[in-house]
Amino acid sequence: MNKIIVIGASGQIGSELTMELRSRFGNDNVVASDIKNAAEDVMTSGPFETFDVMDEARVPEVIKSHNIDTVYLLAAMLSGNAEKFPKKAWDLNMKSLLSLLDMAKEGIIKKLFWPSSIAVFGPTTPKRNTPQLTVMEPSTVYGISKQAGERWCEYYYAKHKVDVRSVRYPGLISYKTEAGGGTTDYAVEIFYEAIKNSKYECFLKEETALPMMFMPDAIRGTIDLMETDPSHVKIRSSYNLSGISFTPKELAAEIKKHIPEFTITYKPDFRQQIAESWPGSIEDTEARKDWGWKHEFGLAEMTRVMLEEVKKKLVPVGVL
Ligand code: SER
Repeated sequence: MNKIIVIGASGQIGSELTMELRSRFGNDNVVASDIKNAAEDVMTSGPFETFDVMDEARVPEVIKSHNIDTVYLLAAMLSGNAEKFPKKAWDLNMKSLLSLLDMAKEGIIKKLFWPSSIAVFGPTTPKRNTPQLTVMEPSTVYGISKQAGERWCEYYYAKHKVDVRSVRYPGLISYKTEAGGGTTDYAVEIFYEAIKNSKYECFLKEETALPMMFMPDAIRGTIDLMETDPSHVKIRSSYNLSGISFTPKELAAEIKKHIPEFTITYKPDFRQQIAESWPGSIEDTEARKDWGWKHEFGLAEMTRVMLEEVKKKLVPVGVL
């Protein structure tokens, strides 16, 4: 049985990934960790360790003390915030990866998951159905760090046989933990505002299509990739992973089917430029072929579940 740690367990992905890993592999076999406390179910259902992933002494100490062999490294600064704090984002996103890759090289851990992103693509990348291998000239700090990270992953696999696995997540939509500081976050915020106020002011323009995915698909894909036999993992930089592609206008129209009085207005800010540098949709033949990836949730189903779940969340706290 693997002994797992999720680093970044209080974040949007980590909070859900931890609970799914615990339900599959047993609560005691999945250590959650973050610099700050996580959601209550994460804190109470199994072991939790508080540390800063930048603390080079403490990370291996925790890993050794729990006999961890598998690491999901999710601590990172997202695209919007990274533009505000470029050096800090580079340090956090790169140093944490390199220190875990080194631990894998030294045999302290056996397997590492590290997320890349659609942000590795840039303004010169083909915009529609972007393939796995294509022009990659990211123009954001976040994208530069993810692209460099992918190169490091492939390098450590080739030179040191490190079993590192990665996917390029699209924008992730979820209701458990809100994202923070990303460009695709409008597609989460819109649900809260639609339910609370029947209106939303979007920070992207109405026709800005981006690749997106509902969280249950992302969690399943992540664990599937980590559980597949190493011989199936042919790409050691990072796999394109595709789900849904839509514009703010299309998402608003879908929400309107459930909340007819819902209205959306547009006030693009600095994140518009980030969004415009990314593809509108990506193609994921390799993930499908190599380890059987397939997304399940479309726009209509995702919207229905999001509205239901966000409503359930807001009623008990007295917002509705
Ligand atoms: N969702 C991320 C962001 O917007 C992209 O990976 O920063």
